[in-house]
Amino acid sequence: MGAVEAGISCGTCIGLLLPLKALANVGDDAFVDFFVGFCTKLGIEDADVCAGAVGTQAPILAHDLRSISLASHAAKNFCSTVFGLCPLQQVIPYSVTFTDAHPLGVEQSATKGHKARQGDDKMERKWISKGRKPFQVVHLSDVHPGSNTICSKVICCRDYGLGSTGPDIEKPAGRFGNKHCDAPVDLVESMLTAIEYHAPNKSFTIFTGDVVESAVWAVNEPDVADDLHLWNGEMQTPSYPAFGNHDIAPVNAFPRASSVAATETQWVFDVAARDWEKWIGKEAARQVATNYGCYSRVHPGTGLRIISVNTNYWYKQNCGSPTPLWLYDHDEPLWDPNGILTWLRNELHDTEKAGQRAWIIGHMPFGKVDAMRDQSNYANQIFDRYHNTIAAHFYGHSHVDEFEISYPDYDDRRAETAQGIAYISGALTPASGNPVFRVYDIDPDTYEVMDFIPYYTNKTEPSFDINPIWKPYYSARQSYGSYLDPPIDDLDSLDGKFWHRVTEVFERDESVFQLFNTRLSRGGKVEDCSGHICKNNTICMLRSMRSESNCAVIQPGLSFKDRKRDTEVSCRSSSPTSLGASWRPSSA
Ligand SMILES: *[C@@H]1O[C@H](CO)[C@@H](O)[C@H](O)[C@H]1NC(C)=O
Ligand SMILES: *[C@@H]1O[C@H](CO)[C@@H](O)[C@H](O)[C@H]1NC(C)=O
Ligand SMILES: *[C@@H]1O[C@H](CO)[C@@H](O)[C@H](O)[C@H]1NC(C)=O
Repeated sequence: MGAVEAGISCGTCIGLLLPLKALANVGDDAFVDFFVGFCTKLGIEDADVCAGAVGTQAPILAHDLRSISLASHAAKNFCSTVFGLCPLQQVIPYSVTFTDAHPLGVEQSATKGHKARQGDDKMERKWISKGRKPFQVVHLSDVHPGSNTICSKVICCRDYGLGSTGPDIEKPAGRFGNKHCDAPVDLVESMLTAIEYHAPNKSFTIFTGDVVESAVWAVNEPDVADDLHLWNGEMQTPSYPAFGNHDIAPVNAFPRASSVAATETQWVFDVAARDWEKWIGKEAARQVATNYGCYSRVHPGTGLRIISVNTNYWYKQNCGSPTPLWLYDHDEPLWDPNGILTWLRNELHDTEKAGQRAWIIGHMPFGKVDAMRDQSNYANQIFDRYHNTIAAHFYGHSHVDEFEISYPDYDDRRAETAQGIAYISGALTPASGNPVFRVYDIDPDTYEVMDFIPYYTNKTEPSFDINPIWKPYYSARQSYGSYLDPPIDDLDSLDGKFWHRVTEVFERDESVFQLFNTRLSRGGKVEDCSGHICKNNTICMLRSMRSESNCAVIQPGLSFKDRKRDTEVSCRSSSPTSLGASWRPSSA
């Protein structure tokens, strides 16, 4: 294993899998012993983390190695993700099929219609704002509940047993947490109060995963269940949650239905169905239980269908957490694990037919290096086909305030060709900057975003430890819109075209780009991004909802050695134990 650190090649990595495959064939116990011993001897983690995290993941790895041929795409993907030794793999081409090749929506605006796709003589509905008063929607993400600020783990402030809490602690966290901590319950409460204060008229809330449920389902942390009840009790308006990669135990391990019997993970979906029903209704809750955590619902009184997708079945990157090893157990890649993309396509078909509009909500955005390139590509074919039906996407996971734009042709990325927009909200957890939630203004006729304001609390202000003050940060429309020439029309939404033009401002005006870079963490954990390479890579990432087009490069090495540095740059995430390759912009 020392060879990994020496920067060996892809071929050598595959060679290395050979004895591991032989060991896997001996049985899980021998395999687990080997990995736990490796982890403990090298001091990669504390012994309890080695036994726990590695011990629960290693049997999955053994299962993978028994299932695949070392000549397969899966083996190369594995060496790429886990060791960073193979280059990111090319997408395996697959054409998603559509029952209607062309938009069939009925033109409802007599004068403003435009022709749909080339060769299609039917009109596609054109969504135009009538300038009516917008309604408000709150967006929360990555709450990550957490006790003490100094501990030996990657993320502190949790009860890890003996020595991790209580009087032995050198420096207890403030009541509302600090930069080493995930969000304490008091901070969650403070945020909920701030939401009531700043957005009293909100229509509903969306949670894009890694919320309180995450640790609740970690079987060894049952006491956090109290957080969930607190959360559930305090949320007064309807809320639409999505599954985060932490929202299962062990973390990230959403096994594909083809890998293990679906019944093994049914419990997690049953818990969600039960807890979410009061918000999403009976029918959507039934879908959660039967459709791997995915559901859709037309929000009452609107023509807006909210489609909540469990994106974790193609989440491959670690971002400080164990790599989802279930992805590597098939020689022949599965185009659509658990049928989720097929379901998404069908939902969008129904939305279009019904003359409704859709929001796609999920945890992991599709454009990041964390997303398997294959499923990201296939999903983008669906987004392209239904771009007129999808009003917007909403995600979290990266912990930073950002966005992703989609285009029909990634070789031609321009404002004129931009056709989709994903809004990515920052995290509540103070470990990733200043805690934040967003409030959107939504047009009631198009369901597009007219504006949003992030509300944040400044964790370095003295008031933070006593009573955090939540303040509006900026208006996206007023702030970024002010740099656009010509300015946008009052009826224009903050769509892909708007945000593409904003990235053009970044290209020519360093100060606006640096403003954006500061705002990523709400000024709470600003990473240096001076120099044109970092800027180019950042802009490239913003201009990509498709993983293969985000300009990311992978770097060799086991990331768990210097994981803190790597994850802060690449993932800005905060979660225990990593077993995966690091990634950072090639400038870094
Ligand atoms: C909430 O709605 C009420 C009634 O329409 C209005 O008077 C009030 O200004 C609104 N509050 C905010 C913060 O928008
Ligand atoms: C947070 O507070 C610190 C200390 O007062 C200040 O220097 C910093 O500019 C503030 N940041 C933001 C984003 O408000
Ligand atoms: C940065 O992007 C610009 C515009 O896309 C391009 O002309 C330039 O060559 C890029 N620079 C680097 C170092 O990639």
